[in-house]
Amino acid sequence: QFVATLVRRKPRCVLGLATGSTPLGLYAELVRMHREEGLDFSRVVTFNLDEYVGLSGSHPQSYRHFMQQNLFDHINIDPRDTHVPDGRALDFESYCEQYERMIAEEGGIDMQLLGIGGDGHIAFNEPGSSLGSRTRLKTLTEETVRDNARFFGSEKDVPRLAITMGVGTILESRQCLLLAAGASKARAIRDTIEGPITAQITASALQLHRDVIAILDQEAARL
Ligand code: F6R
Repeated sequence: QFVATLVRRKPRCVLGLATGSTPLGLYAELVRMHREEGLDFSRVVTFNLDEYVGLSGSHPQSYRHFMQQNLFDHINIDPRDTHVPDGRALDFESYCEQYERMIAEEGGIDMQLLGIGGDGHIAFNEPGSSLGSRTRLKTLTEETVRDNARFFGSEKDVPRLAITMGVGTILESRQCLLLAAGASKARAIRDTIEGPITAQITASALQLHRDVIAILDQEAARL
């Protein structure tokens, strides 16, 4: 409802999108609203948080592929307005600067969807990421590699590097929608919402943001 309300109120809104298990229900609901209620995405612009380095958009585990399968292919969004970082960019430094520039040129992100890692990461801002960080390359922690191995079949197939929006990039969005479900997120959610602001739990930087909505199930909210 939050996303749909924004899309109706501001047809050319800029959505920041996440991948992973958490937003699957949200995307399914947006697809349903498009089909059954005519929710119109024709002018919506999207920027995804992150992508694995080395995977092309057609790789079944790439985040581009995930977005096509779970959302973009089922709604009337203009493909040219969907942005997922290019995991096969040739010059990552200038590509990351360009990604930030494209966000700025669209007027900034109106609503950023966020999942959270068991270690408290948002996007791929792993523990220790600067809270002022911008879009850049990050090495995934062993915990994240283990968590994501379920999608790849085995740990050794999980890319070790990702291109990710920075914590600073995320904090610039006008509103954040943080979603978490399940007991495996309880500690990270407690630390994010009630703990000290620390680069060890990059989601805790959201305490500095003036407009964050956290939507949690009972298990994630347990602590
Ligand atoms: C994905 C992303 C990650 C995930 C997080 C939780 O684009 O940025 O930070 O949101 O790793 O993943 P799930 O939802 O699979 O538990």
